[in-house]
Amino acid sequence: MSLFSSLSLALLLVHALPAATQDSHTGADKTTCQWECMKFTLLWPGSFCVSLKVQCMIPEYVKSWTIHGLWPMSIGHCCSCWPIFPSDLEELQPQLSQVWPTLLKSKSNFTFWKEEWIKHGTCAACVEGMNSPTKYFQTSLKLEAHYNIQSVLKGAGIEPSCNMSYKYEQLHSALAPVLGDLHFIQCVEDHRNRQVWVQVKIPMFKNFTLGCHRHLLGTHQHPPHPHPSPGHPCPQQTPIYLFPISYDNPHQPCD
Ligand SMILES: *[C@@H]1O[C@H](CO)[C@@H](O)[C@H](O)[C@H]1NC(C)=O
Ligand SMILES: *[C@@H]1O[C@H](CO)[C@@H](O)[C@H](O)[C@H]1NC(C)=O
Ligand SMILES: *[C@@H]1O[C@H](CO)[C@@H](O)[C@H](O)[C@H]1NC(C)=O
Repeated sequence: MSLFSSLSLALLLVHALPAATQDSHTGADKTTCQWECMKFTLLWPGSFCVSLKVQCMIPEYVKSWTIHGLWPMSIGHCCSCWPIFPSDLEELQPQLSQVWPTLLKSKSNFTFWKEEWIKHGTCAACVEGMNSPTKYFQTSLKLEAHYNIQSVLKGAGIEPSCNMSYKYEQLHSALAPVLGDLHFIQCVEDHRNRQVWVQVKIPMFKNFTLGCHRHLLGTHQHPPHPHPSPGHPCPQQTPIYLFPISYDNPHQPCD
């Protein structure tokens, strides 16, 4: 991504958001803003359930990459000091259901969003553009729309398939011009030992520009996540699959 478009994005994010001083909060004090990098994590619903034991449910309108979360990195914990309510997300709810749905049968969408806010959002909230539940989710939606990796992949001829695999280098070089060199792809292994691409993590600075690499994304351990996130770095020498989404059989989409 060029510096110009990074700049535009930063400006867009900061200025396009409604002034919302009434919902700013003192919960996130300065000490929680010691983090430097955050990662924006997108997941591919077609593979998310492949290695999960818990029951999944992919809503039929979900046809593209979804948001897993926007996570400040290398922070011990955030706080539950800043409550979030369904009314905070009322206006965003149609978009959030579309782009940031829960895929776990036992969890409601709002529960998922609430967990993300408590676990990650309250730490992000020390930054302009993310300093309220509404703004944190709104900003995440804007980032998703901005990167639009579905069309990037399509443009590179990378489409979901059960019988075609890709090389690591192919995926990396398709994404690098848009997500930067430091983006990081994660795979899971299916019951037939295939490597299946499940997530991409996009590291960025607090100001939303790409290139933050203070910590190695692949080895960074964050605390156990409420929305389970199995995954390991995609292997560089093994074929990698991008399975189509199966609404009937999300756990084994390609048998
Ligand atoms: C964003 O922050 C990084 C790290 O502080 C800095 O190097 C970069 O110049 C900033 N970019 C913009 C557009 O402000
Ligand atoms: C999440 O919201 C969508 C749209 O309202 C709905 O179809 C889906 O069933 C919800 N998921 C859960 C687990 O409630
Ligand atoms: C490959 O998989 C796609 C769906 O992912 C299917 O439409 C196509 O027929 C398959 N091709 C072969 C040769 O099996």
